[in-house]
Amino acid sequence: MIGVSTVLMNQVETALINSAPRRWLQRWYETPWLLRLGGSLPPGARVLEIGCGPGYGTQLILDRFGAHHVDAVDLDPAMIDRARRRLGSYGDRVRLHQGDAADLHATLGAGNARYDAVFDFAIIHHIPDWRAALTEIARVLRPGGTFYFDEVTAHALARPTYRLLFDHPEHDRFTAEQFTAACHDVGLQVEARSFTRIRGDYLIGAARRT
Ligand SMILES: C[S@@+](CC[C@H](N)C(=O)[O-])C[C@H]1O[C@@H](n2cnc3c(N)ncnc32)[C@H](O)[C@@H]1O
Repeated sequence: MIGVSTVLMNQVETALINSAPRRWLQRWYETPWLLRLGGSLPPGARVLEIGCGPGYGTQLILDRFGAHHVDAVDLDPAMIDRARRRLGSYGDRVRLHQGDAADLHATLGAGNARYDAVFDFAIIHHIPDWRAALTEIARVLRPGGTFYFDEVTAHALARPTYRLLFDHPEHDRFTAEQFTAACHDVGLQVEARSFTRIRGDYLIGAARRT
């Protein structure tokens, strides 16, 4: 556990996140789902990605979703270094910030209603106070903006393989229902047709800022 607000990845998960199979899944499975459920971005979109890891998702947000600019945040400095190496060719269309996604003001000085979209590629289940992260996402999204999420539920985290291989918060994990209800509570509207559950383990979808 680092600081007060997250459980960082262990070595096994770090290796997995930096691997070609993870990139394949993100490109060929998660991105098509997110595009289908949330649509692409408006021209000139300013986007925030939380928990960017090695920056492959950032690249997809730019190239496949059509973002003009991405602020990408990760708590782990080693991940920020990797992302910087990957994303150098995008110049000032990308800004990388090391810090906590649950406190975006401290991390990047993000004001209210600043972004057209926020992306969560599998990070919120790492944050013990995940509701605080959702509150921050709602705060920085403009009305009508989109929150794209790809999450791992309590059901998956309880599986023996997950427990054996990875480190995650032990308490207050969320089900798909709890996650979408918490989105609603902070003004992120998830409609029945805008998300999908995969075997009860994963949750992919999009919410609209009211
Ligand atoms: C499971 S990885 C996902 C990485 C990448 N988004 C992907 O889908 O491959 C979770 C990432 O979130 C980062 N992270 C965890 N807690 C965080 C927090 N509170 N604030 C910002 N980043 C965090 C980790 O360092 C890690 O890079």
